[in-house]
Amino acid sequence: MSEQVEVLVEGKSVKLPVLVGTENEKAIDIAKLRTETGYITYDAGFKNTGSTKSAITFLDGELGILSYRGYPIDQLAEKSNFLEVAYLLIYGELPSATALASFENAIKENSAVPAQVNHIIDGFPAGSHPMAVLSALTVALTGYHPESMEENPSEELLNSLIIKAIAQFPTLVAYAYRKSQGLAVIEPRTDLDYCSNFYHMMFGKEADAVISDALNKLLILHADHEQNCSTSTVRIVGSSHASLYASLSAGICALWGPLHGGANQAVIEMLEEIKKDGGDTAKYILKAKDKNDSFRLMGFGHRVYKNFDPRAKIIKVACDQILGKLGVNDPVLAIAKGLEEVALSDQYFVDRKLYPNVDFYSGIIYRALGIPTDYFTPMFALGRFPGWIAQWKELRADNEPIGRPRQLYVGATERNYVEIANR
Ligand code: SDX
Repeated sequence: MSEQVEVLVEGKSVKLPVLVGTENEKAIDIAKLRTETGYITYDAGFKNTGSTKSAITFLDGELGILSYRGYPIDQLAEKSNFLEVAYLLIYGELPSATALASFENAIKENSAVPAQVNHIIDGFPAGSHPMAVLSALTVALTGYHPESMEENPSEELLNSLIIKAIAQFPTLVAYAYRKSQGLAVIEPRTDLDYCSNFYHMMFGKEADAVISDALNKLLILHADHEQNCSTSTVRIVGSSHASLYASLSAGICALWGPLHGGANQAVIEMLEEIKKDGGDTAKYILKAKDKNDSFRLMGFGHRVYKNFDPRAKIIKVACDQILGKLGVNDPVLAIAKGLEEVALSDQYFVDRKLYPNVDFYSGIIYRALGIPTDYFTPMFALGRFPGWIAQWKELRADNEPIGRPRQLYVGATERNYVEIANR
């Protein structure tokens, strides 16, 4: 007999099934709680609530473990490349050489975007944040590919839409960047690999192995992260049977927030502020601990990781390697390391299990690659696209119901309308 738990509600015993995942995580299935007791559960921010069953990414926040479809993140970061990881996340298995070549070629053949997208970009006021532009461009794909609005796409159609999304998003990012700099856009090239092509579209020069490897590693590390804020957004929009592109556009907006993917931009802005202020890390640690100060140590802390974010560990090592190979000496790297050292021995951070997260060092590498600060979060979105796509595909394949949480009403109880003359 499967496990169950018993809850007593106003003296009534209710038995609820226990679900056990493949990594022996356990969940109480509360599907019948309300019908049997009239009670709902309450969990602001869903800190302790599972929204779905997923076979894509596993993470253990206490142990600092992260794997994609069972493959440890450090092995993938070291041995794989971004498109291979994208294939793994979306289709569930590492591709054969033939399958990977076919996936890569389909992406190369679909990486051009319609010229009209220039008008969308031109329609934004100068200085608009690229995440706003990219959210608009992504949902505009439903116009250029109206077949994407098919409510129940066939496997063939869905694969075609997936290829277009992965192929065209880097082109859209590069278009937005070039036009924001007043530069002519650069068309994708089919003779370059994914990361080298993106770099060429951004800067008009060919990436050497150091740059291509750095981009592959960073995109792999950002590719998925189970039910984080933006992925949950993609899922809940997809649960209404909105199109893949509409769901991805919503994910871009959720990722933009400084508490989420926008943190990589906020980290560099924070480090620059500390540098300008004389590099006094102790002062900023005090500010981060002061409840009356809104300052937070950006790039620190995590909803799930109560140990080192394994991605942050990999990126920190890569930081030294890449900046060394590029001959870049960025003073904010030393400030970041100093902050980390002080924070990790400070009781406030130790008590709250606040460690560097994926955003703490990533911006230092992006900057060394020549990527401007306001394009750090678009880089996060570029990496997360396959993860969002995989999660959306899983949600639809599992016929998950439309997401519609309950609430605890705390507003005014019933009262009668009062004519304006009597208010
Ligand atoms: C990402 O979920 C994911 O998987 C996200 C992500 C992904 O790959 O998709 O990993 C990517 O979003 C990483 C996180 C990037 N954000 C930041 O670096 C912003 C700074 N971090 C914090 O805002 C915060 O740590 C969060 C948002 C990441 C997590 O917030 P929680 O889980 O809601 O925790 P909390 O805000 O309730 O904090 C708990 C305590 C509080 O203190 P007390 O009220 O207990 O005294 O820790 C404190 C907080 O004040 N705290 C911090 C802090 N983070 C938490 N104090 C100072 N500096 C910080 N950064």
